[in-house]
Amino acid sequence: MSQLDLDKLFAKIEELKPKFIERLTDAVAIKSVSGDESLRPEVVKMSDFLVKELTTLGFKDIVQKPLGTQPPPVVNPDIQLPPVVLARSGSDPSKKTVLIYGHYDVQPASIEDGWNTDPFVLTHDKVKDILYGRGSTDDKGPVMGWLNVVEAHNELGLELPVNLVCCFEGMEESGSLGLDDLIAKEASDYFKGVDTVCISDNYWLGTKKPVLTYGLRGVHYYEIAIKGPGADLHSGVFGGMIGEPMTDLIKIMSSLVDSQGKILIKGIADMVAPLTPEEDKLYDTIDFSIDELNAATGSKTSLHDNKKDALKHRWRYPSLSLHGVEGAFSGVGAKTVIPAKVIGKFSIRTVPNIEPAKLDKIVIDHCNEVFKSLNSVNSIDAHLLHDGNYWVSDPYNDSFASAAKATKHVWGVEPDYTREGGSIPITLTFENELKTGVLLLPMGRGDDGAHSINEKLDMSNYINGCKTLGAYLHYYSKV
Ligand code: BES
Ligand code: MN
Ligand code: MN
Repeated sequence: MSQLDLDKLFAKIEELKPKFIERLTDAVAIKSVSGDESLRPEVVKMSDFLVKELTTLGFKDIVQKPLGTQPPPVVNPDIQLPPVVLARSGSDPSKKTVLIYGHYDVQPASIEDGWNTDPFVLTHDKVKDILYGRGSTDDKGPVMGWLNVVEAHNELGLELPVNLVCCFEGMEESGSLGLDDLIAKEASDYFKGVDTVCISDNYWLGTKKPVLTYGLRGVHYYEIAIKGPGADLHSGVFGGMIGEPMTDLIKIMSSLVDSQGKILIKGIADMVAPLTPEEDKLYDTIDFSIDELNAATGSKTSLHDNKKDALKHRWRYPSLSLHGVEGAFSGVGAKTVIPAKVIGKFSIRTVPNIEPAKLDKIVIDHCNEVFKSLNSVNSIDAHLLHDGNYWVSDPYNDSFASAAKATKHVWGVEPDYTREGGSIPITLTFENELKTGVLLLPMGRGDDGAHSINEKLDMSNYINGCKTLGAYLHYYSKV
């Protein structure tokens, strides 16, 4: 591809904008929530949708790889994991091969949570030129972005400058169950000859400056189940006579972290890699402010008063979040119930050099010890639900250099190099199993509200994001 071709590609992407919006509209309409077993058919439907699109776009070797039965804990013991969709475009040995990964599942959403519009109807706010809908930025927008790039090439009668291998999964939001094994298996088969991996599943740090990302935190998700009476009971009839599971659970959960965000479990801080002066300096030049953080959270609840400390706590220190309690009364009003069984949920974001197995032991032992100190008549089962490793790589390679050129070309500025506080469990697996580098090339902005209400993707990020992905392939093909 010449410079002229790239101009043509960008013009074609602009021209196909209505088609691209339609594609994202169709994708968002499918309620592919991986965490909700009752919606599993929708997740499968989303994989069928991808197969249909990939087929129309001329991809080859399209397969829906089954991943078998979902491991417990599950409601339905026979529930099948959604398939991984694999496809390739081109197999020219003289070209580089880029594996693109994305996920087609989304977080739950319902209008009652406070959305301004139906979360599963992509809604174009024409005044702000913003697309609203669940998955718009995480991760259906970027996944459609890759397909859009191929469509633009097809329409121009242009060959892709690289061979593309797609790996789209439907279980990312639920811990990428089953995918590690598939990647290990396909490393020498379907994924043979892959030169590099590009993942578009994160966001700019702020709202103005594009970024390239070279690190992610890991996540270990835990449950503490406390079991007491055989059924929910009347607190007037039984209160004072029996041990209450909620009382135990709150004690344990309050022993995990304090209100300044400090993790109270002993032994975790000792595993965190020390901050070197060189690393400390990296934070100076990053374009970010506490004001932007406040804008993104819609509050003034920052625990830090300067950008460097705030970023360090997002990128390079662990954090512990309490997420919820299954089985507890959480509705409006005043229900006088004693919940019989409650399951507390929390997760820890991990960083170098936390050892996964050691972390799990420390955490579970801590929960059991605190429970023991309560002298409770109830029983406890604290366990890990799923985990994904942290990932930090070297951003000085051909793939990052190509992405930097592409970003500069489309947005007119040099990108910042960032790490993320979030997790994409499979990133390290790709690096280890395929023995290639991985690049995170984001499409959306820091205020897109992934996982939140009113998730959005700015139109300029969708369209320029497609151009950036396309230009990246072009620049990478030449290195
Ligand atoms: N796209 C996110 C990963 C992400 C989050 C990148 C925040 C950058 C910033 C991904 O879809 C996600 O939500 N991952 C989960 C993983 C978990 C369920 C194992 C996460 O981070 O909570
Ligand atoms: Mn995502
Ligand atoms: Mn997500």
